[in-house]
Amino acid sequence: MKLGVVILAAGQGTRMKSSLPKVLHPLAGKPMLEHVIDCARELEAQQIVVVYGHGGERVRETLSDADLIWAEQAEQLGTGHAVEQAMPFLQAVDKVLVLYGDVPLIQADTLKTLIASESNLSLLTVKLNDASGYGRIVRDAYDQIISIVEQKDASPEQLKINEINTGIMCIEHAALSAWISKIENNNAQQEFYLTDIVAFAVADNVNVLAVHPESESEVSGVNDRIQLAALEREFQQKQAESLMRQGVTLIDPKRIDIRGDISVEQDCLLDINVILEGDISIGKGVNIGANTVIKNSRIDDHVTILENCVIENAIVGASSKVGPFARIRPGTELLGNNHIGNFVELKNARVDEGSKVNHLSYVGDSEIGKTVNIGAGTITCNYDGANKHKTIIGDNAFIGSNTALVAPIKINQGSTIGAGSVITRETPEDKLTLTRAKQITIENWKRPVKQPK
Ligand code: UD1
Ligand code: CA
Repeated sequence: MKLGVVILAAGQGTRMKSSLPKVLHPLAGKPMLEHVIDCARELEAQQIVVVYGHGGERVRETLSDADLIWAEQAEQLGTGHAVEQAMPFLQAVDKVLVLYGDVPLIQADTLKTLIASESNLSLLTVKLNDASGYGRIVRDAYDQIISIVEQKDASPEQLKINEINTGIMCIEHAALSAWISKIENNNAQQEFYLTDIVAFAVADNVNVLAVHPESESEVSGVNDRIQLAALEREFQQKQAESLMRQGVTLIDPKRIDIRGDISVEQDCLLDINVILEGDISIGKGVNIGANTVIKNSRIDDHVTILENCVIENAIVGASSKVGPFARIRPGTELLGNNHIGNFVELKNARVDEGSKVNHLSYVGDSEIGKTVNIGAGTITCNYDGANKHKTIIGDNAFIGSNTALVAPIKINQGSTIGAGSVITRETPEDKLTLTRAKQITIENWKRPVKQPK
């Protein structure tokens, strides 16, 4: 069976009140439409056609993967008209699955059931306590589906129906071709309703079937930012539950946000307000403190990250301790057993095993050997106003507090740098180097006293 997927994404989304097309608004850090596309990919479709309209160029640019076909719907004349724009690209498929770009939480398993349903027309429907706004599923005395009626066209009796059309449906291709050409726009909204095909199918003696999603959120659409925020919470809750099932302790599953792909091993503990973004892998027994943000990074086994850290595009090697209030910027690699303390900023720094930068330091564009101790307030002066330069520090070096290392610079292994030094030349191995002025004491010096008036 060859499947074609049509994703309707031409709607304006005026209620978002945004210059960004609705389907590009992110859910868990990823455009809504991309969630739908990723779900469609799980179905191994022959073709995925995205029907775009308003703001379409921006949508295409943002999601320009080679496996997508773009069909323009210049004017939004209705869902039937939208699907029609995709038909020229679907000639080689057996079934057509219609999805909505603004229904981001749809699950592949539900769609597989819908696709497998043995009918030329299968609808995804759901019963809602409040069905207002939706198309209603009209059934006959034998409980057979006979039509879908839109809210604006429904009789008072039909408005009482609580089974609604989610809009997602799967249709046999040849039948769809025939039905779609028969759709007219003589209805309350003067739109070409895709839903009209239900009555056509019944007239052709097709037994229209309904399939139901596991949860309502799967078929919830986003029309405004309030609904988007509600779905974001649903999605985050699901991800939190999945982490807990994998053996992660979450102090409060409602106060963690995952915006990306994360892999995590057992016995990790994540405190409140942790945000994980992009590609993240976390080893076993890792503790992450409150208010920490981690993007695109690898955190190895038994690392402890204390509160309020920001870590981006970095590797934190096993058994390291980071924070509180540390900032680890792109290109940083901690090789293991490192201590990175409060108010320390690392950027593009490779720090070998056992080395410590515990307080108030900036270390950038640096290579630091094993068991080095970088004293409080050490600054690598890596930037001369035009270019960046490198700092190299050998194994077992000890950098005294408040030292400026003016790069390019090499501190050889075992060097000790006296506190308060400004180091501009390579320092010898295993010796004390310092640049500080000699301490003197002025004899007979008196503190000034207030002059009498
Ligand atoms: C549609 C269904 C309704 C269903 C509801 C579920 C029809 C006639 N009605 O109604 O039965 O209960 O969805 O949410 O199908 N779109 C286009 N081009 C268009 C019109 C719409 O691409 O010309 C896209 C929109 O971007 C959106 C989707 O199709 O993703 C649905 O459009 P919308 O206007 O929200 O449909 P409803 O009138 O709510
Ligand atoms: Ca509409």
